Amino acid sequence: MNQPKRYLITAALPYANGLKHIGHLAGAYLPADIYVRYLRAQKRDVVFVCGSDEHGTAIPIQAMKEGSTPQAIIDKYHGIIRENFQDLSISFDIYHRTSSPIHHETSQEFFTMLNNAGELETRETEQYYDEAAKTFLADRYIKGTCPKCGFNGAYGDQCEKCGTSLSPDELINPISTLSGQPPVKKKTTHWYLPLNKHEDFLRNWILGEHKEDWRANVVGQCKSWIDGGLQPRAVTRDLDWGIKVPLPEAEGKVLYVWFDAPIGYISATKQWAIDNDKNWEPYWQDKDTKLVHFIGKDNIVFHCIIFPVMLKLHGNILPDNVPSNEFLNLEGDKMSTSRNWKLDMQDYIDDFVKKENGGPQLVDALRYYLTQIAPETKDSEFIWKGFQDAVNSELVAIFGNFVNRAFVLMHKLTSGKVPPLHEHLLDEKDKGMLQEFSSTKERVEQLLEQYKFREAQFEVIDLARKGNRYMQEKEPWIKAKQVDENGKVLPAAQALIDNCMHISLQLCANLAILINPFLPNTARKMLHMMKVVEKMLDWENAGKTKLLSVGYSLRAPELLFRKIEDVEIQEQVEKLKANSQATLAAASTEQPAAESNPPAAIKESPVKPEIVFDDFAKIDLKVGTIQAAEKVEKADKLLKLSVDLGFETRTIVSGIALHFKPEEIVGKQVVVVTNLAPRKMRGIESNGMILMAEDSKGKLHFVRPENIINPGAGVS
Ligand code: MF3
Ligand code: ZN
Repeated sequence: MNQPKRYLITAALPYANGLKHIGHLAGAYLPADIYVRYLRAQKRDVVFVCGSDEHGTAIPIQAMKEGSTPQAIIDKYHGIIRENFQDLSISFDIYHRTSSPIHHETSQEFFTMLNNAGELETRETEQYYDEAAKTFLADRYIKGTCPKCGFNGAYGDQCEKCGTSLSPDELINPISTLSGQPPVKKKTTHWYLPLNKHEDFLRNWILGEHKEDWRANVVGQCKSWIDGGLQPRAVTRDLDWGIKVPLPEAEGKVLYVWFDAPIGYISATKQWAIDNDKNWEPYWQDKDTKLVHFIGKDNIVFHCIIFPVMLKLHGNILPDNVPSNEFLNLEGDKMSTSRNWKLDMQDYIDDFVKKENGGPQLVDALRYYLTQIAPETKDSEFIWKGFQDAVNSELVAIFGNFVNRAFVLMHKLTSGKVPPLHEHLLDEKDKGMLQEFSSTKERVEQLLEQYKFREAQFEVIDLARKGNRYMQEKEPWIKAKQVDENGKVLPAAQALIDNCMHISLQLCANLAILINPFLPNTARKMLHMMKVVEKMLDWENAGKTKLLSVGYSLRAPELLFRKIEDVEIQEQVEKLKANSQATLAAASTEQPAAESNPPAAIKESPVKPEIVFDDFAKIDLKVGTIQAAEKVEKADKLLKLSVDLGFETRTIVSGIALHFKPEEIVGKQVVVVTNLAPRKMRGIESNGMILMAEDSKGKLHFVRPENIINPGAGVS
């Protein structure tokens, strides 16, 4: 494609069911924002759309967890996520929602058109049904073991461990997440998109046309899908949360969330057009529009296979590219919401941006590091120490340092003004530096056009690095020592100082333009220091050597970035570990999912002889938290536990070693008999006893409060 007439850029619509973490940010939203800011600086016609994905089983499930309603959940998270993006300078033209009426209409129209054109098929199949909850179990309402990786918390639509897209029938030992019971099968009719009919189209389009310009990971995933044989995909569900299927015979059925969500890009564009008095149609219908979807790796099949087929059938344009990132890990482990091993955008904003010494520079610091480690071709990792290093030794020590030196020296050596350039005195170093302006611009541009954001950003920092080296070689502060008897710098020396400072200041202007897509707040701060207007950031100005006029007086330097202190990152690492441990401990007290074989009936145990209340009241029972556990040497049944009782920590020896591994019970809460006389076991004094329940198979279970509460709480 030559220069497209217009651009429609999308970033995956986040589910409005919880906070989003920096893996999401790095995966789709930040690269999309960099690309869009670059296009805007080029004065291209571009619309950047995003919004909340508010349907699917993820929403009512979260509502159940929070004891809330689906509507309240989407309202809550739509507001938070939208504000988080704003706080991190993600510059959507519209942040829409799929619960809006315009989206419901658009999706229903889309379905109706495809159905009327005979492009959908209906099928009656048997699907999982929860008899207790009287409902079909779509997608996330069903859990089981992943047939690919063996993970036992895989959903009916996807395994979040290995990323495989699944259907409920593929799950091993399926369980209803509503009742915890194994489901039964029941007949139901659904509408299907016969992907198998579009195999040739997909093959030619992806593996032919886009083999070279799409990322290898994207093409690879598509290829294995197509080679694996495309199947008809159901586009409707038996659910009561979602967009109603617009057919009288489809009572109680809604559109599948992955059918309606991508249409959300279109309805968002419609709403944007209404708000801005524009036409939306060309953005989705005119071949001269370049459509680019920014997504994370778990969304590839939907954006490269299913949605394109829908777009083609509906008469829309197809995406020109689907830049998708791999996963971002955190401090040595996969990011995970269930294990609470993550850094939410909200937490970074609270801990860094909305602090006294925070602000926009710390937005840019995060953007910088996330782009530097962007998982463009393989998984990568966020390490707090790496964040600190990137900020301190690159943003502060290279970029910030160069700009600061240029401004400080300008105020010292050229009276706070842009000095003239004495062309006849330019040497090879000066010329080489000036030459770098345009060659860097070209490289950055080429890399951005190919969605290589980390390399593009590297080029910009490298230009600042070259600026530092240039200044170091030129040493204008040494030349300033060549003075006459009145202390005035000799004219020949001043001319060389002028040249160095002139070039350095023009370089600052170039750096502002080039860094703008990546670090927009930094670019704006530089504009302020240079007393120039926003217009200077136009991309066409990059590479120019005469952006600041001679004799123009500039402001005093402001620090662009501050250092990240050791304690700041230590705190974050500790917080990450503590939060995740607390979550794991809480989860282990939850009811485990029911096993697929119902437990054998429990034999009634004979009741002990009656006691009076006073007998019972003598026993002191308290809640404790197991802080440490280890095996007792030469005693294969015993574990030595340290139990926190709030007011003190007790050593208790317990005969549970055959039932539990020490590491799996640390953090769990238990109920302790605290006033039992001490007893020595294997030389260790045990100060208490832990209550256990024994099931019909002889397996022991802890007796404990339903939720984590304060240790020392009385039990009666
Ligand atoms: N909500 C989905 C997710 O978070 C992404 C939807 S992208 C869209 O994985 F194209 F469907 F909108
Ligand atoms: Zn799996």
